[in-house]
Amino acid sequence: MSAQFPVARPRRLRRTPALRRMVAGTRLHPAELILPAFVKEGISEPQPVASMPGVVQHTRESLRKAAREAAEAGVGGIILFGIPAVKDARGSAADDPDGILQVALRDVVDEVGDSLVVMADTCLDEFTDNGHCGILTASGDVDNDATLERYASVAVAQADAGSQMVAPSGMMDGQVGVIRAALDASGHADVPILAYSAKYASAFYGPFRDAAECAPQFGDRSTHQQDPAGSQEEALREVRLDLAEGADAVMVKPALAYLDVITRFRDEVDVPVAAYQVSGEYAMIEAAAANGWIDRERMIHESLIAIKRAGADLILTYWATEVARAL
Ligand code: PBG
Repeated sequence: MSAQFPVARPRRLRRTPALRRMVAGTRLHPAELILPAFVKEGISEPQPVASMPGVVQHTRESLRKAAREAAEAGVGGIILFGIPAVKDARGSAADDPDGILQVALRDVVDEVGDSLVVMADTCLDEFTDNGHCGILTASGDVDNDATLERYASVAVAQADAGSQMVAPSGMMDGQVGVIRAALDASGHADVPILAYSAKYASAFYGPFRDAAECAPQFGDRSTHQQDPAGSQEEALREVRLDLAEGADAVMVKPALAYLDVITRFRDEVDVPVAAYQVSGEYAMIEAAAANGWIDRERMIHESLIAIKRAGADLILTYWATEVARAL
């Protein structure tokens, strides 16, 4: 063996913490984190979510506080989910100007002003008594076009309440287009749309359905959300349609199990790509940490770094405030 062997020594750049920090190509910044938050109508104390330790259903007051803390930590945005006291087949509370989500949007905008981008999830599942994302046909399937009319109205109600971005998550065909047209026609041409473009029919949403009280009472979402076994090309078709319909930013959801889709989106589109680290991803790490099986902080950081390295520009994560403080 020659004296120079090995010629290449990658370990040289890993030798000290300062070297590793300097050459690390992937960094997290608080401004690219978005905090999902739940607000429930008619409760006087925040309610813990059993399957998401550390996450609560907020009261109006505790939501204000959480938004202020996120803003102070430098978090980029907050996305609100509302849980109404009364649900019905149309999800009437979703576009009621006095519905919980609209009330909470006004509260949070009042609380944080422009220091945090305040956004709303635009869907019906938290608001329908059957837990489905739209209007049902007689046979119990989600009626695409009847649901689109509802989404348009919901998005306008959210923008009227001060939402600075709307995020349609229902996976109806044409949802971005109808929402763009409705916003434009109602004086909200300047409100951007963050489209959940590739959203999979995922088991990783399990804990969210406790948090948002929106588990479907029968059936599932597999006629509208994508099949986890679907091809990357199917995801690309969805994102191209959303962009053609006017999406300003796009999302992949869940995150960690779909890093390949995040990377494809980053390569193929010219708008910001967001990834949603969903409730099941949160619950897995919290549960393993509670058992003492993993190093919680390192695992949270590593999962976020992986999502970033895959190509995400924005990350929705329930740890947003904690991580922003630590950075
Ligand atoms: C639909 C919506 C869901 C999530 C975000 N928006 C639930 C679903 O599609 O069933 C899941 C988020 C998570 O699991 O953290 N309004």
